[in-house]
Amino acid sequence: MELKSYAKLNLSLDVVGRRPDGYHDLIMVMQSVTLTDHILVTFQGSGTHISSNLGFLPKDNRNLALKAAHQFQLATGCSLDGLTISLTKSIPVCSGMAGGSGNGAAVLHALNTLTQSHLSVTELAAIGEGVGADVPYCVLGGTALAQGKGEQLTPLTPLPHCYFVLCKPTWSVSTPELFGVIDSTRIRHRPDTKGLTLCLATGDLRGVAQRMYNVFEDVLPPRHKSEVAELKSTLIAQGALGAVMTGTGSTVFGLFHSLPLAQQAHAHLKEAYPDTFLVEPCTPYPHPF
Ligand code: C5P
Repeated sequence: MELKSYAKLNLSLDVVGRRPDGYHDLIMVMQSVTLTDHILVTFQGSGTHISSNLGFLPKDNRNLALKAAHQFQLATGCSLDGLTISLTKSIPVCSGMAGGSGNGAAVLHALNTLTQSHLSVTELAAIGEGVGADVPYCVLGGTALAQGKGEQLTPLTPLPHCYFVLCKPTWSVSTPELFGVIDSTRIRHRPDTKGLTLCLATGDLRGVAQRMYNVFEDVLPPRHKSEVAELKSTLIAQGALGAVMTGTGSTVFGLFHSLPLAQQAHAHLKEAYPDTFLVEPCTPYPHPF
């Protein structure tokens, strides 16, 4: 079975508490976009195999595609004998776009079909919780509010038609480290999540763009913080209605209403940043609720 695995963007990200299990309570508005990895899942021969076009990716349970397969086996009792996963990655790793989590979610969907398990999206998302905090959202996809660790999901009105220019600097920051910094810092600004979801409900693209905010932008190491601020200014100067960092970075994106302006911004940023992409929002799976 051949399938796509979609990158996600955080239109907003707020950290609202620390949990006893060391994780954090979050409130995030998530959006799938048309930047994808390709995954081939087959059953052939014996054993379990994983390969990818990126030699440095782990081939054990640190690879969320394989971890998802093992969690699926635990939940359903199905055999993984002969399972072969081949990943062709286009989503930059450590980019804040849930590339690995998306791969895990895609493998859950593939195994559900290949083993004829007929699990619902809600059941697949519950298995995804054991794989990683972003996996339940990636199983659902589209426009959604994610709360708790990321597993409490509410589908939202899809974004009106628009474009995103994504730009991934070469650096990345460790996610656990950045959560550690936020624990010891007073959060000065927070996103207006309620306002953002209201703008989605009324199709107010400009309102959405103006409310995009991520609390992690403020706690980056100074050098990275200024580069993110600069990238945001460049995107706005190029005609973006709003710009923000996704996840714990390092990708920064601008939201555009106009395709010609988005194309111009893409061409401009691509000169300095090879990992620059022009994409659109998408809803990869039908809404299950
Ligand atoms: O679940 P996952 O392995 O993707 O999470 C990566 C790291 O992000 C965790 O080890 C944790 O440090 C942090 N995290 C968190 N709270 C969340 C999600 C992730 O503290 N809700």
